[in-house]
Amino acid sequence: MSLTTSSDVHFDPADPQTHADPYPVYRRLREEAPLYHNDERDFYVVSRFEDIDRGLVDHGTYSSAKGGILELIKANIDIPSGVFIFEDPPLHSAHRGVLSRVFTPRKMNALEGLVRDFCASALDPFVGEDRFDFVLDLGNIMPIKVIGMLLGIPEADQQAVRERKDRGMQQLPGKPSEYENHTFADEAFFAEYIAWRADHPSDDLMTELLRVEFEDPSGEVRNLTREEILIFVNILATAGNETTNRLIGWIGKVLGEHPDQRRELVDDRDLLPNAVEEILRFEPPAHSLCRLITRDVEVHGQKVEAGNVMMFVTASGNRDHRAFPPDGDVLDIHRSIGHHLSLGYGIHFCLGAALARMETRVALDEVLNRFPDWEVDLDAAELDKTGLRGWTTMPVTIG
Ligand code: HEM
Repeated sequence: MSLTTSSDVHFDPADPQTHADPYPVYRRLREEAPLYHNDERDFYVVSRFEDIDRGLVDHGTYSSAKGGILELIKANIDIPSGVFIFEDPPLHSAHRGVLSRVFTPRKMNALEGLVRDFCASALDPFVGEDRFDFVLDLGNIMPIKVIGMLLGIPEADQQAVRERKDRGMQQLPGKPSEYENHTFADEAFFAEYIAWRADHPSDDLMTELLRVEFEDPSGEVRNLTREEILIFVNILATAGNETTNRLIGWIGKVLGEHPDQRRELVDDRDLLPNAVEEILRFEPPAHSLCRLITRDVEVHGQKVEAGNVMMFVTASGNRDHRAFPPDGDVLDIHRSIGHHLSLGYGIHFCLGAALARMETRVALDEVLNRFPDWEVDLDAAELDKTGLRGWTTMPVTIG
């Protein structure tokens, strides 16, 4: 229901038609109902860039402590300490602080050569062929190798980890009950690696997490508990894999449909960083972030009471012409972007942003080295129906 005008716009992200093409309804929300309430599932929605930008930094009003996904917040479960993506300060600051010390942009950028090798060995077998798949043949393979190597997951187990984490992210839209028995630490699976690493230190993140000391909110200086390490490793394995995979699928689709801009990239690789940013803005793997409202707030002249859920539709903010003139629905690899919302904003801004950006830039560079031209086979491509918005297959012809 529109709260600010007499518009009859209806929005539910779980609606299959909306999921297939959400952008027309996003445009209507921004223009006709900048504050919207979904009556059936009882949540509020803001969709303009400025409202999302302002809301995401206001963690005092909009809390992450019950989760960042509508169904999870509605399930109202206790989230264990250490799941810092779903924490507020001061706990969030302490936990994120530890991880940012071992997960630095400098360290991530040092991996570029290795990422290039992973891409080359995934793509080389398709040279001389007439088809390849951005998701099955590259997105499913490179990001899990990188995160697996960083964390110290043996290569033989990496695909099993990817499949488990992918399944774990696929919440069924509209069904809070799915979360009742949700675990944030995949106990048996990673506990063994961590125990083994404790006895066999290496130069991976697991070893660093076992050694690191930090001051927790009580003032005690201590190591992380095994439970906390388990949760951190789970968060990284989940957050760092399917998101990047989905972005690689979008790169295949978007540049397949914009051959002129793709040709510019073939000729001038200095354009790659901004092109990756523009594709992230244009087709983000995650479309919204939700928060629990902790105090009454006024939005577009309407009072919204504490206890409600606010959905920040970041993918809509990214298309807002007020922030991305003259038309946010147009892809332009030369666009001056400032910042978009696809990696979040505020204290929960994506910790893996530097890694995700480098991985996708290198992946695109290596694709263009081998396949400067491609055409998307959209009939054979499959859109993921749950969780993130992206493709489970993105086949292209390269002949
Ligand atoms: C294209 C790829 C990626 C996208 C679209 C993405 C998106 C996001 C978004 C939207 C958030 C904010 C969540 C919120 O505010 O509730 C976030 C947080 C986070 N991301 Fe990413 N991410 C990507 C890649 C990665 C990678 C590669 C890693 C690590 C290996 C990673 C680790 C994290 C972590 C740990 C957080 C939580 C930060 C916090 O709560 O302080 N992400 N990501």
